[in-house]
Amino acid sequence: MVHKITILTLFPEMFPGPLGHSLLGKALDKNLWTLDVVDIRKFAEDKHQTVDDTCFGGGPGMVLRPDVVDKAISSVMEKEKARLIHLTPRGRVFHQPLAREMADSSLPFVFLCGRYEGIDQRVLEAWQAEDVSLGDFVLTGGELAAMTILDAVLRLIPGVIGDETSLEDESFSRGLLEYPQYTRPREWQGRDVPDVLLSGHHKEIAAWRLKEAEAITRERRPDLWEKYSHQHN
Ligand code: ADE
Repeated sequence: MVHKITILTLFPEMFPGPLGHSLLGKALDKNLWTLDVVDIRKFAEDKHQTVDDTCFGGGPGMVLRPDVVDKAISSVMEKEKARLIHLTPRGRVFHQPLAREMADSSLPFVFLCGRYEGIDQRVLEAWQAEDVSLGDFVLTGGELAAMTILDAVLRLIPGVIGDETSLEDESFSRGLLEYPQYTRPREWQGRDVPDVLLSGHHKEIAAWRLKEAEAITRERRPDLWEKYSHQHN
């Protein structure tokens, strides 16, 4: 299954950016996923190619016009049905289960990246855009959020990462933060690798890792810990 991605942005030159490197870049070259980048400004109709205007009701900043954004969305949606994701701090917060759901979806995805104070609400409603946020902080635009989400989604596509077992064992798949990792040398600047990891006892290693994962989760993420302890008691 090829994952078809379209980005609607005022800054098309930002893409593929980081997504063109490393494992995702190789997967793009192999057509495991495809990328179309559409410049929203192309759909402005006046001679200054205006895409935004001041907001009704007053307040700072500029808002992207619904007519311009609508034409940009139409140009993509007319070709085929797709899921429209709008990146905004007002959205539901992105997390690993949503990454998994998106990776398993056969629909193409369109990422609508806002800038300035946002996008006129009417065009978002008209197209039933799904508002998605990266978290409780404000970026200058949706582009980095779209890239981050795509990184999390595309790495789950079969064939993108060589060793698929490494996908399952990591942070959040069990509702815990990940245990710590070590490699050679066995001793570095007076610090030793924990003995149990050198013991070859797979059961003891698994038990140690679980204990470490639980301890770090309890300390750093009371929210995850509460959910996890309910499920395991
Ligand atoms: N655009 C600006 N801030 C954002 C955030 N936190 N998440 C997603 N898109 C954004």
